[in-house]
Amino acid sequence: MKHLNIASIPGDGVGKEVVPEAERVLKTIAKIHGGLSFTFTHFPYSCEYYLEHGEMMPENGLDQLKPFDALFLGAVGNQELVPDHISLWGLLIKIRREFEQVINIRPAKQIKGVESPLANPNEFDLLVVRENSEGEYSSVGGTLYKGEDEIAIQNGVFSRKASERAMRYAFDLARKRNKHVTSATKSNGIVYSMPFWDKVFQEVASEHPDIDTESQHIDALAAFFVTAPEKFDVIVGSNLFGDILTDIGAGIMGSIGIAPAANINVNGKYPSMFEPVHGSAPDIVGKRVANPIGQLWTAKMMLDHFGEEELGKVLLDTIENITSDGFLTPDIGGKHSTKQVTDELIKRLKAQS
Ligand code: NAD
Ligand code: IPM
Ligand code: MN
Repeated sequence: MKHLNIASIPGDGVGKEVVPEAERVLKTIAKIHGGLSFTFTHFPYSCEYYLEHGEMMPENGLDQLKPFDALFLGAVGNQELVPDHISLWGLLIKIRREFEQVINIRPAKQIKGVESPLANPNEFDLLVVRENSEGEYSSVGGTLYKGEDEIAIQNGVFSRKASERAMRYAFDLARKRNKHVTSATKSNGIVYSMPFWDKVFQEVASEHPDIDTESQHIDALAAFFVTAPEKFDVIVGSNLFGDILTDIGAGIMGSIGIAPAANINVNGKYPSMFEPVHGSAPDIVGKRVANPIGQLWTAKMMLDHFGEEELGKVLLDTIENITSDGFLTPDIGGKHSTKQVTDELIKRLKAQS
């Protein structure tokens, strides 16, 4: 019997609506499988927690989370209560950094029954490997002066180690897929980091002669994500480029509410964290219409991570089974609630057992 101890952090907004649903689904899957079980231990770290305690998680918060097999997170952020840079750097980014979750994997492909906004959606199936530890998201910088002379300086940090690591990860994934890696760059305009990124990419590419490569400037790449997403296999990008590209990936799938993600700790010292691409969606919170698919597909990535690929496939196939039959939340053109979608999914999962 494989037992997985999961730390669950629903967080803010719709995170609190979709995480419990995904837990129900994971427990159902485990029951069907027989050889797998889950324990979810809940942590209330969120903006509400901040209001009560003055911090996003307690001082020993990371020590509490470290022993778990994985973290399952919804979304963080409620700007009415706490400024984003405080809530995110106090929880989400803190966990990514401290737990050395240096790679963020974010797939995008057409889901059956979910209409893409593209006029001619050809079948696409791409995977963005986002460098998750540095780049544009650095804490190097500061502010100077006041008033009309005020200046904010934000430095990007691009180390050989982290850039190479993300690129190698992308090549390894491409080898198991369609053997093509695209590097997201901007070396025509950004004078230090991007030429460096290109140089490292060329070096790593030369070690992988069996993989086709190309470099695309991020602006053109963003356009090709919309006009020809089927041309891509694996895309490797810096922290910010990866962030933006994966919301475009979500958009061409049909909704930000369906895109999954995995923050991977590659050295095995800390747990990895599974959290969808979307945020806390304050505009729909409390309406019971949050799309659970992003969190559910993220749960599939967690199953895959623990070697349960067969179950992961069952989960995604059954999601496509219900979307094809019109069980859709309003963001993808339907009328169903979060719970109605998961209830139907659970019913069909049980029917297969
Ligand atoms: P968002 O992803 O929360 O919302 C963008 C749009 O997508 C909104 O219209 C929203 O209703 C819709 N959407 C998002 N998730 C959905 C779902 N599951 N079902 C249906 N529709 C969904 O992005 P935002 O508005 O830029 O950010 C809101 C807050 O979330 C901010 O505080 C932001 O910093 C935070 N955020 C957190 C994360 C995270 O924790 N991983 C990610 C992105 C944004
Ligand atoms: C994401 C989010 C976060 C990021 C924000 C909320 C800090 O947009 O996970 O994609 O930029 O990494
Ligand atoms: Mn994002």
